[in-house]
Amino acid sequence: MNFDFIQHDVIEQKAKSRYRQLVCNSATSQSNEIVINGKSYLNFSSNDYLGLNNHIEINKALQEGADKFGVCSSSSSLVTGYHYAHQALEADICQWLNKPKCLLFSSGFAANLALFQALGKNEESYFYLDKLSHASMIDGAYHSKAKVKRFNHNNIEHLTTLLTKTTKSPNKLIASEGVFSMDGCQAKVLELEQVAKSQQAWLYLDDAHSVGVIGDEGQGSNYFADIDITMATMGKAIGTSGAFLTCSEDLHEYMVNFSRHYIYSTAISPAIAWATRKSIELVKKEQWRREKISELSTLFGKLLAPEIELVSTESSIHAIIIGDEKKALMLSDKLKKQGIWLTAIRPPTVAVNSSRLRVTICANHNVKDIKYLAECINKAIA
Ligand SMILES: Cc1ncc(COP(=O)(O)O)c(C=O)c1O
Repeated sequence: MNFDFIQHDVIEQKAKSRYRQLVCNSATSQSNEIVINGKSYLNFSSNDYLGLNNHIEINKALQEGADKFGVCSSSSSLVTGYHYAHQALEADICQWLNKPKCLLFSSGFAANLALFQALGKNEESYFYLDKLSHASMIDGAYHSKAKVKRFNHNNIEHLTTLLTKTTKSPNKLIASEGVFSMDGCQAKVLELEQVAKSQQAWLYLDDAHSVGVIGDEGQGSNYFADIDITMATMGKAIGTSGAFLTCSEDLHEYMVNFSRHYIYSTAISPAIAWATRKSIELVKKEQWRREKISELSTLFGKLLAPEIELVSTESSIHAIIIGDEKKALMLSDKLKKQGIWLTAIRPPTVAVNSSRLRVTICANHNVKDIKYLAECINKAIA
């Protein structure tokens, strides 16, 4: 049989309680409700942290963008796909994060592959990645020609040792997530900035889970520190789709000329770029959304039974580590019966024996939702 690993691997996945399946959400409302197979659930697994998805003003801007520029860019940026909507969005992002240049990508995954592959041109480049970095950073780094080192999670000492021991090459890039996607904890951004400066390295942060949520205008890690290169997806707190990278003029010029992911890919929808401008305007001015996440998160921590430990975080993400895959799945199923949608996160997304319930608390949840969630989790785990 051709490619017989296909059947074999799926059978093995099922046996390990790691089997994954698509479920279709048929909800049509703007709330955090999802509807699966006709049953409604409170959604605590979404990345719509600020509750901006389906916002009436963003939807209106999407329609306006479609009317002005069309839904499709109809070409890669360097051919004819780069519209005024893209240029204006890039300018907004540069101003928001106080950075010289911005580039748009169809997804955060593509942006990460693009950056690592562009900078990892040859073996003179050295990448230092936090061990908990996202799959797309790891793939980007290892598929490049650079030498890749992994430092222990948030361990600045280990990073410094690796940096001082491995090379004198000037092409060093330190890479981390700003807020870690599966734990919710923040990187030590200021310390990373200091190490980068003292070791003449560049600092790259994947701010997918920080932008929108952290900072008084949702600037993410750039609120605290001067980050050489930042990537953020627009498919989470910003509530649209695609991703952006901010960087220096020189790197921008280099990416436009040499990044295969940028050059050989259709530019993002100009209608979505236009809608994203409106979304960023709301992200900046509606501080109440960040305050609500913070208030509800504090309440959640207080209501959980004392034996349930949460990783301390300023973000929307709250991880309850369960350990075993089967137990995590069983708990997720128990919660579903109570009308709560909380996906069990299992290896290889997280390390073996660290399967977890990853709770996301969003600005469109309310006190009643959080009380109900905590009550159901306490009952399920006790
Ligand atoms: C930390 C991180 N980086 C990158 C991505 C990929 O972004 P996108 O969904 O836009 O491809 C994700 C998840 O989606 C993520 O959690």
